[in-house]
Amino acid sequence: MLSSIFALGLLPLAAQAVPTPDAPGVPSSSFQLYAYGEGFGGLSVFYWNGLAYLGDASLANDTEAAAVLCKSSSDSTSMVGIPVTTPGQATPSWSGVTYYIPSDTATTHQTGFVSGEATTEDLTTGFVFYGNTAAWATSSGKLQTKWFATPYENTNIWLLNWNPSTDSSDNKVQVTLRSVTPSTPPPNPPGPGNPGRSTDSQKPHPAS
Ligand SMILES: *[C@@H]1O[C@H](CO)[C@@H](O)[C@H](O)[C@H]1NC(C)=O
Repeated sequence: MLSSIFALGLLPLAAQAVPTPDAPGVPSSSFQLYAYGEGFGGLSVFYWNGLAYLGDASLANDTEAAAVLCKSSSDSTSMVGIPVTTPGQATPSWSGVTYYIPSDTATTHQTGFVSGEATTEDLTTGFVFYGNTAAWATSSGKLQTKWFATPYENTNIWLLNWNPSTDSSDNKVQVTLRSVTPSTPPPNPPGPGNPGRSTDSQKPHPAS
């Protein structure tokens, strides 16, 4: 799937401005995004305090944290989301939030959601889908998939970031965002919050 995205990026598409009339934009029917990659079997993208995280939103211990149900806005290359509500739990106060990635000139990497106008450092347009896989197109039409995850403190929550090349954090994991629900609940990826399966250096090594 990824290789076909990169191959498409080299086609004449690259010579056109975005959005190209025939470029597949964001789906107009509702979908959730899930992160797939090494150890990541489809972790749900969730909203928490305006930022994007991966994992089970209930692990944030905050009723304002929730998975996001997205669809395209009137601009077909933007993703606008509402909270996925859990029966028996308070409904988050936010709604109609637009997903963004930080531009290359931003000093931060974590992606997030804005309600209202985005700053020029936050890119909210240019998202395209090939099949079920999300990508972002540069102004010259080049497709990029620079999403990566980093662990959030000592938990099974991960930050959803963009552009690993200028980020020096440890434990970066490249992920692909897809609108495909995992067939089984995904296990927690190895990480600081999941020492059972991880490279956690604080854990004593068993004698061999
Ligand atoms: C949520 O609470 C649990 C249990 O107290 C804790 O282990 C976990 O770290 C908390 N999550 C966050 C994001 O602080």
